[in-house]
Amino acid sequence: MRTRSLRTRLVAAMLLLLALASTVIAVVTTIVLRQYLMRQLDDGLRVASRVIIRNDGTPSSPDAIFRSPRPPDSLTAVIRQGAVVDAQVYPRTGGAVPVPATEYADLTALVPDGRAVSADLGTLGEYRLIAATTPRGDVVVSGQSEQQLRGTVTSLVTTELIVAAGVLVVAGIAGAIVVRRELRPLERVAATAARVSRLPLDRGEVSLAERVPDADPRTEVGQVGTALNRMLDHVGSALEARHESEMQLRQFVADASHELRTPLAAIRGYAELSRRGELSADTEHSLARISSQADRMTTLVEDLLLLARLDAGRPLERGEVDLTRVVVDAVSDAHAAGPGHRWQLDVPDQPVTVPGDATRIAQVLANLLANARAHTPPGTRVTVALAADHAGAHLRVTDEGPGIAPDLLPHVFERFARGSSSRSRQNGSTGLGLAIVHAVVTAHGGTVGVSSSPGRTAFDVRLPR
Ligand SMILES: Nc1ncnc2c1ncn2[C@@H]1O[C@H](COP(=O)(O)OP(=O)(O)OP(=O)(O)O)[C@@H](O)[C@H]1O
Ligand SMILES: [Mg+2]
Repeated sequence: MRTRSLRTRLVAAMLLLLALASTVIAVVTTIVLRQYLMRQLDDGLRVASRVIIRNDGTPSSPDAIFRSPRPPDSLTAVIRQGAVVDAQVYPRTGGAVPVPATEYADLTALVPDGRAVSADLGTLGEYRLIAATTPRGDVVVSGQSEQQLRGTVTSLVTTELIVAAGVLVVAGIAGAIVVRRELRPLERVAATAARVSRLPLDRGEVSLAERVPDADPRTEVGQVGTALNRMLDHVGSALEARHESEMQLRQFVADASHELRTPLAAIRGYAELSRRGELSADTEHSLARISSQADRMTTLVEDLLLLARLDAGRPLERGEVDLTRVVVDAVSDAHAAGPGHRWQLDVPDQPVTVPGDATRIAQVLANLLANARAHTPPGTRVTVALAADHAGAHLRVTDEGPGIAPDLLPHVFERFARGSSSRSRQNGSTGLGLAIVHAVVTAHGGTVGVSSSPGRTAFDVRLPR
């Protein structure tokens, strides 16, 4: 079967049902009317027949029967001993007309039991007839033409046909308009979906601004539109997130390449000088520089590798980490590296332990302490406080240095984000330290935060139990 549009099918189904209903109503009313009229006709005939029989008092002449006034379109016949004596019809206009002898058979065949039957009287048409026996033994036939009844029924059927046809035409047009209007939102949904399908979503920054207009969630079609809009919102934000992470990755790769290029250029330069032997006296210095630049590269590559591993969701080593011990060790290392600073330790008497990777957590602390040392002038007080509560461990590194620049503060945990001060630049900082802190703490299911103002910078690390 050919598939037609939903609109056509809806209208066709509606018209079909309407036609069916009209047909049933028409048939039933016609039958009921016809039966009612027929009963009326029969009742009239029966009365007429009884009147004739009562009046038939005169013994000799059946003419008496015909003398009484007859209603229009009626028939009266007298049959004596099986033969028609007289039979006449009384049309609406003009006088009585004799029934043609060819129709006599129909009259004589009647059973005089007072029951009405229909008979076709040739040129006279259909008649309803009742036969009854008079006291004298004659059979009197009373009849009434069915012409009027037929006319009434025919005009009813005609009217019904015309009305039904009109109703169907009007309903068809109105239905088509209503269905078209009701389905318009669905067309909007389809149009939106089609427009979205033509958008280039596979690369670059995409804006998924297409939405189904005026989607009314109270209607079924509106719900489809709303659902599509919600899906587009969802896809839109997913695409945005994808684009953002793609840009971040590109930036990361660019920054990393840039960072690696500087030590590589230095190494190549010193190597070239040593090879030429131009700086024979300083070869030792060159080698020392090469070695330190190689160290810097190694650190950088190791940091990048660690970040990449954490990004990839590589499982950490899981063990019971004695935080108190880690903190004490880290502060003593920091003290050795930065004897100019004033290091203070604030740990509880009870050892604090959390599940996690001891090496990585030690690195978190080392990075924070290295920052407190590198980005504050000598003599600055740095406090490391450790506390434990029901949720886990709380580690805080506070320094009284100059603080983090306000424009850097929101981005301080991003990769390669670092201060522009000469201090940050000169000591070979890369801006990965806090990114690693963030990545390691997050991988442990913890959080890290910072608050900074001149004279007080505090990093808060929370690790869950
Ligand atoms: N305690 C602090 N006081 C002042 N500024 C800080 C402090 N800690 C971090 N910063 C600022 O935040 C920036 C980012 O720190 P981060 O540790 O990520 O990188 P870095 O120390 O510059 O380099 P890296 O740690 O990789 O050698 C630093 O460059 C510095 O400007
Ligand atoms: Mg650092």
